[in-house]
Amino acid sequence: MPLVTDDRAQFPDWRFAPNIGGHPDSYELENAALDRAGHVLTAMRAIAPWAGRTIVDLGCGTGYWLRRYAGEAAEVIGIEPDPALRAMAAQAAADLPGTEVVAGSAEHIPLPDTGADVVHARFAYFFPPGTDAGLAEVLRVLRPGGCLVVVDNDYRWGDFAWLLRASAVRPPEQTAASVDAWWRDRGAARHEVRSELRFARRADLAAVLGIEFPAGVAAAWLRRHPAATSVSYGYVLFSVRR
Ligand SMILES: C[S@@+](CC[C@H](N)C(=O)[O-])C[C@H]1O[C@@H](n2cnc3c(N)ncnc32)[C@H](O)[C@@H]1O
Repeated sequence: MPLVTDDRAQFPDWRFAPNIGGHPDSYELENAALDRAGHVLTAMRAIAPWAGRTIVDLGCGTGYWLRRYAGEAAEVIGIEPDPALRAMAAQAAADLPGTEVVAGSAEHIPLPDTGADVVHARFAYFFPPGTDAGLAEVLRVLRPGGCLVVVDNDYRWGDFAWLLRASAVRPPEQTAASVDAWWRDRGAARHEVRSELRFARRADLAAVLGIEFPAGVAAAWLRRHPAATSVSYGYVLFSVRR
């Protein structure tokens, strides 16, 4: 019995994501809660519009965001190394115009040189340091003038940052400083988006905190905010233009 699946052998940079990989239903609630405010998508569109363009969602997970681009972009390509998530994304994309989901990873993008106008990586792969190979691969597939937009946490602002701080071994300010420096050294622009996760039900909020944070940290936050159905959430977007 082989110890690695074909996908692990093919995409050695693939890291299983326990939040979405272990709990796709709860992660769907998280994406829907983020989508409700719409601030992140608006900022991504302002940085690199996709109307009439070829857009790649790198590490697309279950394909939640593909439907936001379909119809407006000329072509939407979801890339996902995890076979179980990829199957869900393919199902989500089945009825979407001009949309396909393919096997690949940040360091192994199955596209020709200059084949993409916009590449998104939403909480996928780009957790520097150690991500130069993926950045080189993205720059290979971007056409001149094309743009990579990476969505990461703002480790310094909002309830979500408080939760990150309570969960982290390393002080979040140190993480933030090293992540900022990594991108700055590679010519990236940095954009802050202050938003929220807003849930229809407190049980949904509790489910999402449960997949993102240790049980004790999530429980403590919920105790301190007995009526909350939302958390303030700061995002940092890094963009690199080819
Ligand atoms: C937290 S999830 C985010 C999924 C999706 N971007 C979203 O926002 O709904 C991280 C995703 O990155 C994928 N991933 C892990 N390693 C990767 C790699 N080396 N290249 C591209 N994606 C990767 C995971 O399989 C997972 O789908």
